[in-house]
Amino acid sequence: MARRKKIYEGKAKDLFEGPEPGTLVQYFKDDATAGNGEKKDVIEGKGALNNRLSEFFMMGLMQIGIPTHFIKRLNMREQLIRQVEIIPLEVIVRNFAAGTMAKRLGLEEGTALPRPIVEFSYKDDSLNDPLVPEEYIIAFGWAGQQELDDIISVALRVNDFLSGTLFGVGIKLIDFKIEIGRLWENDYPRLVVADEISPDSCRLWDIETGEKLDKDVFRRDLGNLTDAYTEVARRLGVLPSNVTHTPTKPTLIN
Ligand code: TYD
Repeated sequence: MARRKKIYEGKAKDLFEGPEPGTLVQYFKDDATAGNGEKKDVIEGKGALNNRLSEFFMMGLMQIGIPTHFIKRLNMREQLIRQVEIIPLEVIVRNFAAGTMAKRLGLEEGTALPRPIVEFSYKDDSLNDPLVPEEYIIAFGWAGQQELDDIISVALRVNDFLSGTLFGVGIKLIDFKIEIGRLWENDYPRLVVADEISPDSCRLWDIETGEKLDKDVFRRDLGNLTDAYTEVARRLGVLPSNVTHTPTKPTLIN
């Protein structure tokens, strides 16, 4: 079979033409980057773990009625998704101060915020994804006012779902990023959660020890990234089939 046509090459994922119009194949690479591509490495196993974890989180969102672009996982590294028009914003939700917020406000990382805070960065690598106020989003037409209100309410629902799910396996959700896409149906756009939800785009700390189980392990050289992601997958009961393969004897069905 001829290789599918690549339509987008990202830092951690590539997109290929899908089998039907309106679909794409999202391929998870082992490449890791930080600081807008300044630090780079190939981390064996990361792509397969993120493919599984993103499937797990997207399926969970759909089960509680939050639409996503996810259709199905195809294999270890690929998933079938709906083609959407990506809104050029990184939608960030924070429960505890960390990263750029901690730096900007001089807060100690891990400080609990008075309530979850939603903020937006404009998606443009050449500008380093600058933080933007809501007024810019409306004024520059990246999203309409109603869409923006809907994006905030979806982001908070995603936060509740992810926080609860992760809390149940002893992990604190410090912050995360999602992307939102428009899915056009009969000239009417519906907002869906797109891109990925994985430890590449979340900050996850062990509740007991505070150990980091996310991409900060790579950004800050704290140890083995695959081990950290494997731990998240293990706790959630999600592991690539080659890792969990435990041969069992065939059973006769009467
Ligand atoms: P933030 O603290 O703003 O940036 P940094 O990761 O550079 O310190 O990030 C908040 C959360 O959003 C964090 O979990 C990482 C995630 N994020 C991305 O995954 N991609 C992005 O482009 C941005 C801006 C944030």
